Parts: sequence; C-alpha cells; structure tokens
Amino acid sequence: MTSVTVRVPAKVNVQLAVGAARPDGFHDLANVFLAVGLYDDVTVEPADSLTLTCTGPGSDQVPLDRTNLAARAAIALAERHGLGDPKVRIHIAKGIPVAGGMAGGSADAAGALVACDALWGTRASREELLDICAELGSDVPFSLVGGAALGTGRGEKLQLLDVGGQFWWVFAVADGGLSTPAVYREFDRLTPRAPDPVASPALLDALRTGDVRALAATVTNDLQPAALSLFPSLQATLDAGTSGGALAALVSGSGPTTAFLAADEAAAHRIADALATSGTCRTARVAPSPAPGAARVFEAF
Ligand code: C5P
Repeated sequence: MTSVTVRVPAKVNVQLAVGAARPDGFHDLANVFLAVGLYDDVTVEPADSLTLTCTGPGSDQVPLDRTNLAARAAIALAERHGLGDPKVRIHIAKGIPVAGGMAGGSADAAGALVACDALWGTRASREELLDICAELGSDVPFSLVGGAALGTGRGEKLQLLDVGGQFWWVFAVADGGLSTPAVYREFDRLTPRAPDPVASPALLDALRTGDVRALAATVTNDLQPAALSLFPSLQATLDAGTSGGALAALVSGSGPTTAFLAADEAAAHRIADALATSGTCRTARVAPSPAPGAARVFEAF
C-alpha cells in the first residue's frame, strides 16, 4: 500500500460527571460520549523518516513534532511490532476545532493508528488497538469506536451505547483555546468534595429512545463552571444559542467550544445563523450524531 486515509469523528460529551482527583492526578469520570459528524482525515504514506503536516482551520496551533498524538500513535504501533522508528509521513486535514474540547487530537491519534496498521500490514487486533489508544489518552479509545459510549475510569473504559435516532447539533468555535489540565485544576479548586461520578439513567434512556427533548433535559457537564471561570465570555455564546432556539446549551468537554442541541436539522441551521451573527463566537458548525468511528476512506496500492 502506498497511501491510506482514515476519517475520524469529533465528540461531544452529553454527560460529563467528574469525581475527585485520584492519586495519579486523573479524575474518575462517568463520561457519555457521542460522536458527531465533524471529521479529521489522517493520511499516511511511506517516507524516509517520521514527518507530520497539517492543514485546515487552526492547523497553525497543531504541534508537528513527536509530541503530536498522531506521531505518538505511529511510534507506539511500530514499537509493539518491532518496526523501529516509523518511516511514515502523516498528514492531518483538520475539520475538528483545534484545542476545542472536541477530542481533535485524540481523533488524530486513533486515525493515525488505524491508518499505519493498514499501511504496514501489522494487522493489530481491535483489542490491541484499543490498548494503544488508552495509553495515548483518555479520549482516544472513543475516537476509534465512535457512535456512543459510556466511558468510566479516566474515560478510557468503554461500554457501547445504543442510540435510537439522530440528534442535530451546532458547535460554536471560540476565539482561543483552553488547556484540558488547566480546566481540571480549576474544577478541583471549585469543587473541593466532588461526589463519585454516576451515569444518569434518564440520559441513557433519552439516547436509547432518540428523544431529543428528553436528552436536552438531561445533558450535563461538570467541567462547565470551570471552563466558564477561565473563559467567562462563553456565557454570552451559550445565551446567544439559547435565544436562537437551542433546546440545550453546554460547554463541550473542557471547552471552549460550546454545543447546542437542536430540535431538528432546520432548527440547527437557524441556531447556527443566530450564533454566527451574534458576534459571540468565531464560527458555528452544524453536525448530526451519532457518527461512525475511525474508518478507512481511501487507499492506494
Ligand atoms: O488523557 P489525556 O491525556 O487526554 O488527559 C489530558 C489531561 O486532562 C490530563 O493530563 C489531566 O490533567 C486531565 N484529565 C483528568 N482526568 C481525566 C482525563 C483527563 O484529570 N479523566
């Protein structure tokens, strides 16, 4: 094979229940992930050494060295299969907001892993791929599987969930980013005694039945007060989406992207227009959910 492209989705957390910090610094979560139809495309090709390129909105903020999660994924797979330092060019075409709380970096890691596995013929099992994903980051296993899942532990232990319909979202991309560790530190400061995180049965029911109003009534994000504390102008964005007709408005993951649940596709476009003209965000993007996980979309021989 001479080239493989893998498409990987963004995610929104419809429930993000966060417990107290653990001795290892991570937090136990009840994290209900929903993959949404905003994608990065990761292409890999043989090269003389490991190189990384990136295009698309926000790509100037993406590190192009070996700290990039996509590079780390290639290195981890090569190491496990005795291939030495990976000789691969990785190209990331960004469609997912960068540093936005939508797991863009995790998506690139899952994409690079699946793409390199195909390019090199390493034929790693699903279990091995998920294992490598969990080593790379808490959200990476979900980027591989897509759909909807409950993540426990630090978010990496996944239980797949049924979704009984399509949900339409609008995502408002903020000017600037938020550091995930900084948001968790702010959570710790604001929440001295966080209770153990538990998935909401009403929310899981809403997903299972595809009931958008029930989902809107049950979405929660425990990181939202911390994200708002570090990025107070997000409140104006949340208010603009609510005035525009959103059934629910919340910060996506650790932010600063904000997510708006719409009654249907037409409502989603109206909310996106309202957000775009509100002057409270950089852009507003419409996306359906659930979306599939990492999938090969192109290969050349
Ligand atoms: O796992 P990942 O590398 O994506 O996590 C990024 C950072 O987010 C961690 O270093 C930690 O500060 C925070 N985090 C956390 N608890 C989790 C997941 C992430 O504290 N369950």
